[in-house]
Amino acid sequence: MATTALMNTYGERSVTLVRGEGAWLWDNSGKKYLDALSGIAVCGLGHSHPAVTDAIRQQAGQLTHCSNFFAIPHQEQLAQKLCDISGMTNVFFGNSGAEANEAAIKMARLYGHKKGIKLPTVLVMDNAFHGRTLATLTASGSRRVQAGFEPLVRGFARGPFNHIEALKVIAENNPNICAILVEPVQGEGGVQIADPQYLKQLRALCDEQGWLLMLDEVQTSNGRTGKYFYYQHSGIQPDVVTTAKGLGNGVPIGACLAYGDAAKLMQPGNHGSTFGGNPLACSAALSVLETLEKDSLYQRATAIGDIIMQGLASELEGATHVKEIRGRGCMIGIELTKPCKSLYAKALEQGLIINVTADSVVRLLPPLIMSDDEAKQVVTILAPLIKDFQ
Ligand SMILES: Cc1ncc(COP(=O)(O)O)c(C=O)c1O
Repeated sequence: MATTALMNTYGERSVTLVRGEGAWLWDNSGKKYLDALSGIAVCGLGHSHPAVTDAIRQQAGQLTHCSNFFAIPHQEQLAQKLCDISGMTNVFFGNSGAEANEAAIKMARLYGHKKGIKLPTVLVMDNAFHGRTLATLTASGSRRVQAGFEPLVRGFARGPFNHIEALKVIAENNPNICAILVEPVQGEGGVQIADPQYLKQLRALCDEQGWLLMLDEVQTSNGRTGKYFYYQHSGIQPDVVTTAKGLGNGVPIGACLAYGDAAKLMQPGNHGSTFGGNPLACSAALSVLETLEKDSLYQRATAIGDIIMQGLASELEGATHVKEIRGRGCMIGIELTKPCKSLYAKALEQGLIINVTADSVVRLLPPLIMSDDEAKQVVTILAPLIKDFQ
């Protein structure tokens, strides 16, 4: 039962956070928490980062919003910077991950129609998560996300994640497919990491079939895995890639980036967003990109991830209920052999913020600014909780 005027979408929330600094948060009773979740991969630069705070302050005092009827220099600068970093060619800005993916799905449909396909179909994966709008929940591979919201949206086909041969069979049997939408690491799905060759294989399949390769990097981007985008570990170039979460370090912004011909699909009147890419959000995001580079946070993401994963592996050696510890940089999953939702509250009690996803996977998404010492503290608090979880 909801106890406030809010809709009951998030269930009961026992802790009220009122202040944050770096990797630390404080609640309204003054209790301090080490943040190993970053507001679900959002605050990669930690809380109240001075560069982001300054950018927001300055822009709020100058021009917060003006609508997309007008040229917005910060939006253009941000688009250029994102393209320079990624090798993509053009950007559309929205306000969230789901909206970035909606833009991608709409582009796939434009592309399909251009090819003469009457029911353009996007191939998506089991266990995927792409958001909560009707199209993105349809694209998601979890009945829990979809149930109750039928009728779902037409124009999606589904295959198994990390199984290229199965996708080849689907390709032979469905002439309506015109694009693949896939997370390179399934975050909500339990930090599921595909084989190193997977993205290359997907690229080859898309080239062979004339499909768009569209990557949902809403969670894996903004330096979290040690590169700006995860695909940059593999050397491929996608046709479309989406980002959001860490882009504004807490100021809502999402982006859909496209490359080459895919970047020419959208024309005036096809798509838009009132708030998307406004001066405030773009200023915040520009400060995030500058700080990622200036403070070498890509390297830090890898270093922090190594400390946490190696520390946990050594502390949890021999624990038979720990199935696997896996991750890339600051995106880490510890899979147990049984459901472990209650570990979230146990960690909170100990002053550590974590998350449990896919029922049995402890997920850590620490900020990229964590010190070595703070990363070790994550291990010190978390390892005994997992060890004793019987
Ligand atoms: C991979 C992925 N795509 C899309 C989304 C949806 O993003 P948002 O909640 O900003 O709409 C998420 C959120 O967790 C995500 O992890």
